[in-house]
Amino acid sequence: MKTVFVLNGPNLNLLGLREPGIYGASTLQDVEQLCEQAAQRNGFALRFHQSNHEGELIGWLHEAGALRREGKLAGVVLNAAAYTHTSVALMDAIKGADVPVIELHISNVHAREAFRHHSYIAPVARAVMCGLGVQGYSLAIDAVAQCLHD
Ligand code: DQA
Repeated sequence: MKTVFVLNGPNLNLLGLREPGIYGASTLQDVEQLCEQAAQRNGFALRFHQSNHEGELIGWLHEAGALRREGKLAGVVLNAAAYTHTSVALMDAIKGADVPVIELHISNVHAREAFRHHSYIAPVARAVMCGLGVQGYSLAIDAVAQCLHD
């Protein structure tokens, strides 16, 4: 059984409380349940994590890279949150670990402030999904199964 990683960046632990008009009412625990269901229906094991620290996200990308080398990784769904727009280190980690990543955002970042239009992740991602609310997580795991799983 291959593993899909779902990695969440800073402030996503506040889902449900945080700007509900933009991010909705679901909590991160609700999102984890959605992901568990999506992983199960696609026959994947799930690793679901959130961190407010860049280095921790990098560590999980490295772990995903190690699994990939063993042929045990399905793919990575990454909502890097604000680090999307700032982090050369995350971009380098994705390249270095050589993992297939779907960049995901709950909101449509392109309909928001200009500083959210640039992503350091997009050039090294296989695909980018945004604006589908928390259902985007479930759809991204389906996309891993259809497009990334080799
Ligand atoms: C986000 C969009 C980012 O711009 C923002 O910093 C977030 C969440 C989203 O899921 O819509 O924290 O990644």
